[in-house]
Amino acid sequence: MKQLMIKPTIYKFDTAKAFAEDFAIGEGDLVITNSYIFDPNFGDLNLKCEVLYQEKYGVGEPSDDMAEAMFKDLKGQYKRIIAIGGGTVIDISKIFALKKPSPILDLYDGITPIEKDKELVLVPTTCGTGSEVTNITVLALNSRNTKKGLAHDAMYADSAVILPQLLLSLPPKSLVQAASML
Ligand SMILES: NC(=O)c1ccc[n+]([C@@H]2O[C@H](COP(=O)([O-])OP(=O)(O)OC[C@H]3O[C@@H](n4cnc5c(N)ncnc54)[C@H](O)[C@@H]3O)[C@@H](O)[C@H]2O)c1
Repeated sequence: MKQLMIKPTIYKFDTAKAFAEDFAIGEGDLVITNSYIFDPNFGDLNLKCEVLYQEKYGVGEPSDDMAEAMFKDLKGQYKRIIAIGGGTVIDISKIFALKKPSPILDLYDGITPIEKDKELVLVPTTCGTGSEVTNITVLALNSRNTKKGLAHDAMYADSAVILPQLLLSLPPKSLVQAASML
């Protein structure tokens, strides 16, 4: 019987450039993020990855509708999903690392098996959710008027990456909290 598992591997980098180089971010990678976080930190690195901006699909809590709309816009096959954002971006990205992310409700209903077939790298840009080291995604299921967690070990990240510079754009109240955690 399994007793203990420690995942993911945790990394820390001083700069976005150092992270991008060490992880060789490029073709075959899908980065899920927000433009106001990605562009100032990674924009001048000319990365050859595909980038999906979560805020184009709605604001507030992550939902199944938001994730389904993002899924429809995907253009290709990816070997790695890299989330750079808060709990919203990270929780959606956990679904995207699965073999069959859509329909999301089928995952919740146990119709589609929860199997991961892409490497998952999670880079938190807020403090406190800890989602980068948990095996759960929490989505609002709009059609069911509820918010529900889906927990499975397949949704553990392979890598969690701490990049303190990404916290600098947090609103002042959050930044004070972030500073106390560094
Ligand atoms: N899976 C888990 O283990 C787990 C645990 C706790 C919470 N959650 C989920 O996390 C979600 C909340 O996540 P959150 O509190 O990180 O908020 P969030 O991801 O919703 O972010 C809040 C806002 O701040 C913006 N933002 C994020 N980082 C920023 C940065 N560095 N600079 C400027 N703006 C930034 C986001 O774009 C968003 O508009 C909830 O949906 C909750 O259910 C998940």
